[in-house]
Amino acid sequence: MDINLLISSLKNDNLLKEVIYFPEMESTNTHAHSIKLKDDVLVVTDFQTRGKGRFGRIWSSQQGLNLAFTLIKKIKVDVDELQLLNLYTAYSLVITLKELFPDIAKGFSLKWPNDILLNDKKVSGILIEVQNIREKEKVFLIGIGINVNQTEFDDEISNKATSISRELNAIKNASSQTSIDREEILIEFVNFFYKNIELIGSKEELIKNWESESLFINKKVKFRQMDDSSIAEGIAKGLDDNCGLKIEFDSGTVKTFYSGEISFIY
Ligand code: BTN
Repeated sequence: MDINLLISSLKNDNLLKEVIYFPEMESTNTHAHSIKLKDDVLVVTDFQTRGKGRFGRIWSSQQGLNLAFTLIKKIKVDVDELQLLNLYTAYSLVITLKELFPDIAKGFSLKWPNDILLNDKKVSGILIEVQNIREKEKVFLIGIGINVNQTEFDDEISNKATSISRELNAIKNASSQTSIDREEILIEFVNFFYKNIELIGSKEELIKNWESESLFINKKVKFRQMDDSSIAEGIAKGLDDNCGLKIEFDSGTVKTFYSGEISFIY
């Protein structure tokens, strides 16, 4: 990782106060937790030995090929609107990736609540934690993992996960395969995130924008309900005011699910 390039681009534009880099660390989110109540700090590494996923899962990624970073950012948002930051982060990322990779742009989409898919496989995951939930101005640890140059995946996730380079290689001939610039993705994402951050305060517009990047809306989805492990299916109708996903069942009943209540089966 060219850390000097990151520092010069992101600090000169006054986006960040500090960039913390280690070639290897346990997890950028865990490291960010140990820094108390800072703002505009980026923690980035080439390899996490204990990368954290949502719901206590492990996020694993090959050394030196992908992106793993945490942006520490103070934002004023009410407790009941925390989901808006998840939507905003996922939206910022999907737009950044679409702009940077026009050849495969159509393949990028959002999966509720905050995964990025590329050709229906997961290419990026987001784990947002908060340090001071009771304060009005909260310190968020916005952790993002993006599969960039990794082309081999463990058998159990190989049909569910992909990387930008894997999908680009699939449409290009072998001789033109190049390694993708990870720094550019990170710089462009941070730029977009800071530039459009007001969107978090425009709930309706944000939800509309998020929905327009999701391929799930008005499609049939199959999912497991976390409370009793039962499997159900219905049509995803879009998000409600609290960022829950509305699902219409065959009976015509519409039920809204919130983050953590269901997991999709695909
Ligand atoms: C998920 O989809 O379950 C979320 C994955 C989030 C992974 C990123 S990688 C950088 C940051 N540090 C972590 O330990 N996790 C997040």
